[in-house]
Amino acid sequence: AAGSATAVAHPNIALVKYWGKRDEALVLPRVGSLSMTLDVFATTTRVTLAPGAGRDEVLLDGASAAGSQRQRVVAFLDLVRAGAGSTLKAVVDSRNTVPTGAGLASSASGFAALAVAAAAAYGLDLDVRGLSRLARRGSGSACRSLIAAFAQWHAGTGDLRQADLTSYAEPVPAGAGLDPALVVAVLNAGPKAVSSREAMRRTVATSPLYGPWADSSAEDLDQMRAALAAGDLEEVGRIAERNALGMHATMLAARPAVRYLAPDSLTVLDTVQGLRARGVCAYATMDAGPNVKVLCPRGQAPQVAAAIVGAVPGARVITAGPGPAAYLSAP
Ligand code: DP6
Repeated sequence: AAGSATAVAHPNIALVKYWGKRDEALVLPRVGSLSMTLDVFATTTRVTLAPGAGRDEVLLDGASAAGSQRQRVVAFLDLVRAGAGSTLKAVVDSRNTVPTGAGLASSASGFAALAVAAAAAYGLDLDVRGLSRLARRGSGSACRSLIAAFAQWHAGTGDLRQADLTSYAEPVPAGAGLDPALVVAVLNAGPKAVSSREAMRRTVATSPLYGPWADSSAEDLDQMRAALAAGDLEEVGRIAERNALGMHATMLAARPAVRYLAPDSLTVLDTVQGLRARGVCAYATMDAGPNVKVLCPRGQAPQVAAAIVGAVPGARVITAGPGPAAYLSAP
């Protein structure tokens, strides 16, 4: 084992969403999904083996984590230790540049970076597919941050054992002409009311709209692959927006309802619609929080950002492009 390793990973935003698990323990999804990895909001994580230590130490942005936050990291390290045949505890030092818990997918970059760093520190020799499967166990969406730019996460096929082996993310080819940007409108960086884990569970168990959305999502996935390959950003945006609105509809129909969209989120959706009426290619997608991410050609990003700030005073906008795969950096 190397003993110490540092990895960097970026968040990803789903254009065809992951919502609903088939198996909680293995983090197997009910639907395939497709995302763009961003070039902003990196997480850098260092894992150092600590021979003689009685417990794992988890530092998040310099502060010692406790409770369920720490437990999730310890459970993940247990998986890595089981694979590597080690009983050594470790120090995990993770630094995030994205507001935690704001629906900006910090768990995706966090567990992708942790998977890469922990595997290297414990000497667990995994290829990208193996690392993607490992990251998935920490947080489903993290498996897509192992891949640069566009990634498809396969739901996995067959019984649970086979599905575990076949559920990972892979690169999706995109047409050479495609020059996309995601304008991220940060509307409220506070903690979210319901965790996505609990919200997914409730949606699958109680929402009458879940099944129909999951079926249509499989079609969205095929059409999204074709639109990306053709370099047709307008079509990519159309599919992404309808898929996201459909996902939120499934949650609104859950019992009790889960609602992440806030008044400012709807104001941004109105703004995006207004931009389209003026000939701008802009489409919105939203995750488990109030923030809205607007997909548009890179050249139109400044106009989109200005329109959002004009409509929602105080909104913070960050423009992202397609980002790199998770990688090992200096020890
Ligand atoms: C709305 O990956 O955070 O962002 O697997 O329970 O950790 P867990 O969930 P998580 O869910 C992300 C849901 C989403 C859509 C997406 O990223 O595809």
